[in-house]
Amino acid sequence: MARRRQLYEGKAKILFEGPEPGTLVQYFKDDATAGNGAKSGVITGKGVLNNRISEHLMLRLQEIGIPTHFIRRINMREQLVKEVEIIPLEVVIRNVAAGSISKRFNIPEGQRLPRPIVEFYYKNDELGDPLVSEDHIIAFGWACPHDLEDITGMAMRVNDFLCGLFSGIGIQLVDFKLEFGRCWEGEDMRIVLADEISPDNCRLWDLRTNEKLDKDRFRRDLGNVKEAYQEVARRMGILPENGAGGDMKGPETVQ
Ligand code: TMP
Repeated sequence: MARRRQLYEGKAKILFEGPEPGTLVQYFKDDATAGNGAKSGVITGKGVLNNRISEHLMLRLQEIGIPTHFIRRINMREQLVKEVEIIPLEVVIRNVAAGSISKRFNIPEGQRLPRPIVEFYYKNDELGDPLVSEDHIIAFGWACPHDLEDITGMAMRVNDFLCGLFSGIGIQLVDFKLEFGRCWEGEDMRIVLADEISPDNCRLWDLRTNEKLDKDRFRRDLGNVKEAYQEVARRMGILPENGAGGDMKGPETVQ
């Protein structure tokens, strides 16, 4: 089979040309970075787990009417997605203080916020993804007011739904990052949820013990990173049957 043409390589994923026009193949790597590339490593099996976790969450979100770029999972590490024009924003939704908001406002990690807070960061590695206001976004033309309304509305709906989904499996959704893209169908444009939703871009804490089940285990050198991702997948009922297609070490027990 002819090799697919690579279009883009990011920190955790590679995008290849898809089998039909308007589609892409999103490949999930095991590579992990933190601090805008200051720290890097490999978490064996992470790509397989994130592919499954993101597939599951995107499908559940589609069921409640959130448009997404997801079409279908192809294999253990790849999914077919719609080609979209990525809006250069990282949309962060926070329910509980942690990470940068705790530092910025000196709020203890774990303190529930008065209400969910949406933040926008401009996606630009050279600038270190700075926090931006809606005015910056509109003035610099990254999105128009109508797009921003759509994005914020969808982000809040995704948050409501995911908070419920995770609390049902004993996990607190502390915060997470979303990306959106413009999908063109002829003259019509609509904004769809893109990228991935996985423990790489969510903070997920065990509801009972507050144990971290996400990438903070890597960022903060807490160990057992893969095990934490596996635990999330296990609770979601989607742990790959045979330890993730033979490219993840060791047998896994499905309880
Ligand atoms: P922060 O507390 O470091 O701002 O992160 C907030 C959430 O956004 C957290 O769940 C991690 C996620 N995130 C990303 O997925 N990518 C990023 O580049 C950053 C800075 C955060």
